[in-house]
Amino acid sequence: MTNHSSHSNGMHSLRTEHLYKVLVIGDLGVGKTSIIRRYVHQTYSTNYRATIGVDFALKVLNWDSETVRLQLWDIAGQERFGNMTRVYYREAMGAFIVFDVTRPTTFEAVIKWKEDLDSKLMLTNGQSIATVLLANKCDQGKELTNNGIKMNQFCKDHGFLGWFETSAKDNLNIGEAANFLVKHIMATENDILKSVVPDTISPQLDSNRQMSCSGCFK
Ligand code: GTP
Ligand code: MG
Repeated sequence: MTNHSSHSNGMHSLRTEHLYKVLVIGDLGVGKTSIIRRYVHQTYSTNYRATIGVDFALKVLNWDSETVRLQLWDIAGQERFGNMTRVYYREAMGAFIVFDVTRPTTFEAVIKWKEDLDSKLMLTNGQSIATVLLANKCDQGKELTNNGIKMNQFCKDHGFLGWFETSAKDNLNIGEAANFLVKHIMATENDILKSVVPDTISPQLDSNRQMSCSGCFK
């Protein structure tokens, strides 16, 4: 009996690869780096060391028969007052905007971050990128978010797809929030890519385009 190459040895099961650049923004000390460390490295530390400029992390997800590479851009809170965000935002497909539920000023800053993002980055279809709001440190209290209806309305008013209470400390809802964002990006990426790739380029090149990266993870 000849044993032809089968799916089990991977010969015929070429997985589709997606590369998504996702921004993580929000004010100083809200827990952006902690959320990413928890999500990517399953670690948590109470020590606070402010991020300088931008940090990167890569999370690989097996999504049904497809592979999703999430290139997470951890942008320092203090960068809102610098002039580099336009550069950092370039070609991002999605964003998390994070605030600290124990500090109302960080919630007010969410609107400023969203405005900064929308004023500097737009998808080729003219829409703003998929953005999810994260109410972090929910292990510390829920005063700011206990009115879910208000939070839903806030998301509607300010163009967020939705919001999640998260805790990097207790590992709460981070994977769920990421899956929610990825699901949305996947559902809309064909529209977006269609409008990016010029007609003269064959559709097969789509996947190459997705694989190209800004040089951080090569
Ligand atoms: P910048 O890099 O300055 O913009 O800050 P950041 O948003 O990256 O904050 P970072 O992740 O460094 O966290 C700041 C502090 O908050 C650290 O001391 C963390 O341990 C703490 N922290 C982060 N997430 C949580 C959380 O879910 N719960 C609690 N209780 N503390 C948290
Ligand atoms: Mg940080």
